[in-house]
Amino acid sequence: MRTQVGIVGAGPAGLLLSHLLHLRGIDSVVLESRSRRYVEQRVRAGVLEQGTVDVLDEAGVGERMRAEGLPHHGIELRYGGGGHRVPFERLVPGRAITVYGQQEVVKDLIARRLADGGTILFDVPDVALHSLEKDPYITFSGERLDCDVIAGCDGFHGVSRPSIPEGVLTVFRREYPFAWLGVLAEVPPSAEELIYAHSDRGFALHSMRSPEISRFYLQVPPDTSLEDWPDERIWAELRARLETVPGFTLAEGPIISRDVSAMRSFVAEPMRYGTLYLAGDAAHIVPPTGAKGLNLAVADVRLLTAALAEFYATGSTALLDAYSSSCLKRVWRAQHFSWWMTTLLHTFDDDPYGRRLQLSHLDYVTSSEAAATTLAENYVGLPFDFGARP
Ligand code: APR
Ligand code: PHB
Repeated sequence: MRTQVGIVGAGPAGLLLSHLLHLRGIDSVVLESRSRRYVEQRVRAGVLEQGTVDVLDEAGVGERMRAEGLPHHGIELRYGGGGHRVPFERLVPGRAITVYGQQEVVKDLIARRLADGGTILFDVPDVALHSLEKDPYITFSGERLDCDVIAGCDGFHGVSRPSIPEGVLTVFRREYPFAWLGVLAEVPPSAEELIYAHSDRGFALHSMRSPEISRFYLQVPPDTSLEDWPDERIWAELRARLETVPGFTLAEGPIISRDVSAMRSFVAEPMRYGTLYLAGDAAHIVPPTGAKGLNLAVADVRLLTAALAEFYATGSTALLDAYSSSCLKRVWRAQHFSWWMTTLLHTFDDDPYGRRLQLSHLDYVTSSEAAATTLAENYVGLPFDFGARP
């Protein structure tokens, strides 16, 4: 088999890249180790930045997102017995977020690629990358795929990043001493907007997927087991952390899914080796507090598409050569924002000084227009040319 761009991974990064390349007349094959059902059902974050919404819309895959996604113009920071709204409409006029599950984006992209005759191979075992310096190819289950370049879109645990020879990448990382327990519940959201709650019992987040489905997260110990969290304990803990302002009652309903995710920050630089380009979680991970993971993946593949389109149209490698450094500007901004949100809102053991700093900073963010604007503009997403030198 031969294609122009061999894409490893059918997450949001790989699927969107394949579609954007198709719109530019560039051929690709997507290789995915899991089943279609698995990638479509996997529950992940659900906040799309304005720029992500625009990219999906412009690429003609935004129809269901516009119909079913929930535009939000603010979030609440809840702490110290009070709720404080961060109003995007005033702080960052014209920019908002859209709440729409990542697996819905994945479903929309798969449907569109298949309708356009694209090739996505699911359940592909033993993917291996070869000859990355020149004339690369990918092998899998006894087959060989030759390509001009390879896009490593296979997430944090994928095969692409480890295929880069030792010593090439510089890795930056931070682990957090807690995890998130996430639950989906069949109950209408108890508030119209997301609530980020700082409490002495740990962080909690009230989010949603639709007018009928709520999504919640609880800060939990890193080694927690789902067995330790029967429904009643989950609701009791959510109530204790969220019912902290007068008049707020948490509506409860059947829990339909639960998961635990680690909290880490990670960046591998550069995002390229020879003909291999890394995009999305394969190159960088953020803790989910700032809801940046999917949005960063979209920003990466937007740049990779432009670079490959220029290469195929003119033979110039200028944008391909700039790909890693261009992506990393945004990646590091999101790294800082995600670390900052995480550090601001979670409970750290034995750190009374840090606790006082959190409360002081929360007071600042909820009273200063300048500080609130910093949160708002990062949350809705900085413009795509952020960090570009004139
Ligand atoms: N061979 C083929 N496919 C692989 C391999 C492999 N060896 N290893 C992993 N994959 C697949 C995974 O099964 C997954 O479907 O690559 C895909 C990677 O998708 P994601 O992990 O979703 O990563 P990405 O597309 O970069 O999405 C960005 O946004 O909300 C965040 O972290 C969240 O996944 C999300 C991310
Ligand atoms: C989600 O709804 O899954 C979600 C929302 C906001 C976050 C993280 C996750 O910061």
